[in-house]
Amino acid sequence: MNYEAFAAQLDHIQERATASLAGIDASDALAAWEREFLGGKGELTMLMRSLGGIEAGQRPDAGRRANEVKKGMTAAYSAKEAAIKFGGLTTRLAAEAVDVTLPGRKPNIGYAHPISLMIEELSEIFALMGFQTVFGPEVETTHYNFDLLNIPADHPARDVWDTMIVDTPSDAIVMRTHTSPMQARVMENTSPPVRVVVPGRTYRYEAQDASHEWMFHQLEGLAVDKTIRMSDLKGVLQELARQLFGPTRRIRFRCDFFPFVEPGVDFAVDCAICYGKGCRVCKGSGWLEMGGAGMVHPNVLRGVGIDPEVYTGFAFGLGVERMLMMRHGINDVRAFAANDLRFLAEFASFSAHAGRGSSV
Ligand code: DAH
Repeated sequence: MNYEAFAAQLDHIQERATASLAGIDASDALAAWEREFLGGKGELTMLMRSLGGIEAGQRPDAGRRANEVKKGMTAAYSAKEAAIKFGGLTTRLAAEAVDVTLPGRKPNIGYAHPISLMIEELSEIFALMGFQTVFGPEVETTHYNFDLLNIPADHPARDVWDTMIVDTPSDAIVMRTHTSPMQARVMENTSPPVRVVVPGRTYRYEAQDASHEWMFHQLEGLAVDKTIRMSDLKGVLQELARQLFGPTRRIRFRCDFFPFVEPGVDFAVDCAICYGKGCRVCKGSGWLEMGGAGMVHPNVLRGVGIDPEVYTGFAFGLGVERMLMMRHGINDVRAFAANDLRFLAEFASFSAHAGRGSSV
């Protein structure tokens, strides 16, 4: 082949390649183009192989021109490759654009559980009367749950508390059936004067119904000092009733039996819904039962090394769920542990009021 024919073919390839490349806008078409012109069996490569047939004097010129064309086409290929990539990005950016002017989605804000709110409120009420809030173990020994509370082993009084026993060889470990064992624990660790309240979970082997749960909450109270009298108990519980249910509340004590107090009482508050006339919430009686109480039994004081001739004390136990049910007219205790957000959300405003509420 002579130089002129070689140059003409070179121009021809370059023209067709340039025209063909202009119409390409996808990477598979670009790969095909590359194979057709620049690849090992591409037109340009084949033509360059024929360089050897050109007359020696003209061969360097022909080689230089061919290399220039190859360089140009390779550059055009790279430019197109980048354009395709970048073009894809532009399309994607357009498709995935975020409209920042749209209003945002509100995050779900959590709030404290009504039981937690009630315990907090009770702690505050009692703090103002000088009671410290302390917590105790939910898994207890029978020593604290019964023995030290003047409820001896094999005594029928134990039957009052349907107990969940932890499976150990001695059967001496139980889920605490009440918060009262903390009375003994606190007295063992502090010397009088003692004023504490103990909120927390308690457990009973119980068939569930609208007023019974196998897990519920109590708040225990204990005051021990040299001059504690029944009237102190009455004053404290009267103040509690007023703080919880309104300033005109009256309370009622009736004789009751609990092995760890003597005398023992149950105490009630006059119904804040009907003012004692009788309604659905107080079941027509005019009174709402709040819990048990009494003067700490001498045997209990003796059991923890406190001399009942020198010191006296009062104790009480409240059902936390009961307080909420009475105040809000809730008729099923199971609502508290059912985790139904429609129920729990009813208390959101109380939570906000108490300054509580966190993101969940
Ligand atoms: N521990 C009792 C119960 O769960 C409630 C109780 C009654 C607590 C009288 C007391 C009390 O502190 O004095 O049934």
